[in-house]
Amino acid sequence: MKLRAAGLALLTLTAVVSLAGPAAAADDLIAGHDWSHFAGAKVQPDGVRITPLDRRIVDVNGTGGQADPPVNLRGPRLKADGDFRVTAVMDGVGDKGAYLQLYGGVPIIYDEWRQEPASLRLGVKGGKLTVSLWNGGSDKPATTKSYGSGLSGRVTVEVRGVGQTFSFYANGAKVGTLGNPGIFKGLIWFGADAEVGGGWTLVSLTAQGEGGDNLTVADAPALAQPVLADSLRRRAAALPRPIDIGAALASAPLFADAGYRALAGGQFDMLTPENDFKPQFVQPRKGVFTFEDGDALVAFAQANGMKVHAHTLVWHEALPAWMRQNATKQTMFDHIDAVAGHFKGKVAEWDVVNEPMSDEDADYTNGHQGLRPESPWFKSMGEQYIDLAFQRAHQVDPGAKLFLNEYGAEANGERWDALYNLVKRLKQRGVPIDGVGFQNHEYEAGDRVPAETFRAHVKKLAALGVEVRVSEMDVLVSSSQRKIQADEIAGKLKVCREEPTCTSFTTWGFTDKYGSTADVGSYPPAPGDALPWDSALKPKQAYTAMLNTLG
Ligand code: XIL
Repeated sequence: MKLRAAGLALLTLTAVVSLAGPAAAADDLIAGHDWSHFAGAKVQPDGVRITPLDRRIVDVNGTGGQADPPVNLRGPRLKADGDFRVTAVMDGVGDKGAYLQLYGGVPIIYDEWRQEPASLRLGVKGGKLTVSLWNGGSDKPATTKSYGSGLSGRVTVEVRGVGQTFSFYANGAKVGTLGNPGIFKGLIWFGADAEVGGGWTLVSLTAQGEGGDNLTVADAPALAQPVLADSLRRRAAALPRPIDIGAALASAPLFADAGYRALAGGQFDMLTPENDFKPQFVQPRKGVFTFEDGDALVAFAQANGMKVHAHTLVWHEALPAWMRQNATKQTMFDHIDAVAGHFKGKVAEWDVVNEPMSDEDADYTNGHQGLRPESPWFKSMGEQYIDLAFQRAHQVDPGAKLFLNEYGAEANGERWDALYNLVKRLKQRGVPIDGVGFQNHEYEAGDRVPAETFRAHVKKLAALGVEVRVSEMDVLVSSSQRKIQADEIAGKLKVCREEPTCTSFTTWGFTDKYGSTADVGSYPPAPGDALPWDSALKPKQAYTAMLNTLG
């Protein structure tokens, strides 16, 4: 027990009794808790089998790859106010790394990297207990230490957090200690991973308070959120021609942040998975699929009567290295078959092809017809990749509406002209494309486009028999420009409300707290000012403007 001055004075009779009495019974963190929605894990009679995923987040150009081991978001979490111990029995441990991770928060996925919360990873690798500690101030561990020897087969690993010290035990023997910089301040979440070539079984996982301190185990919160008296979704549904009002959502804050969860379910009737459906997250290794975090978003949508606009099947970014190196027609078909097949009947729409247009002027005159030449899909199949992707997606999920999603096409110019011509060619070739998503990212003043220009594009596509949606709107401003932000967002929403072929309006996230425009130069990143809710989850002018625009 920690000797806290105030705590000592308040020692109650029961506390004294528990001090003197036998140690509290350990809480079982597996039986009765959810490990069946945990990526890479299989619940078996002898425990939870942990399989290698090698899940990584690549840089924009496809290089690098920060490890992205899964966290059991829908599983048990621990509330330890004082001293505690966690004990794991790991079986089938060989030379390859077997890792159990205790997280002081959930990792937030930002642009091409993940923000590591404070955490402690207990690994058995090469016969040693290897402990890494992240302190919440960097995505690299602050400390890594290895202890013991000859650990393999069935290994009991334990950490005791007492006062400012972590003590580590392997098979009952104390092997080392590390200073605890106070990394567990609220809930402790669990994750596990296995090195490629390995795999192991979590036979048991238990926790107990130390020295009479209290500890409780909780499960994931209920997904269904209270209906709000007034909200964007209610007003959008009450329009003479209702439209869907959506936001890009991420699984981690949905499970870890009650305020985020309440707004996500209360305000929107549609969601786009911000990252959880992208190739590097769902097919980290060839033929190895991790749908769990995406499934969690689908479950949230179902619990709250929301549609899922799925994002995205074929893109040049967020590709795991193996897929970028093997971007063949077969790889594309296999991915579409598995992913669109898995979510069939659960998603209303798909972004089949994302961002096919080039950023280089030269590609608009050199015969590429404006298509992005560095896309590995374009490299391997030419323009035909787009036809094939739509045809395949339609075959797999004929009930889903199929979209092509693009940025920078709200403005007039060669990019819009080339996109329009592409859609026209697709329609002429009988490709099953239902709509075009206009992302509407406004990262700088030059990105702002008059709403009427956008309207003209909506009308031109309508004449081709193609629907549109506003798919990823955010407007990055300085705090003195919130009126501009509100006007920009409301202006596009008004066009969408008025044009009969515009079916939905979605912002890229809804709160700056987890917004993708955060400045990642600092750790944790400094939030951008780009979305209708600020980083304290308070609504801005943009929210009021959206409400008013919806009537
Ligand atoms: C962004 C996400 O918001 C980031 O978190 C991620 O790391 C990279 O991708 N256009 C798109 C989206 O179609 O998928 C992108 O999302 C933003 C630009």
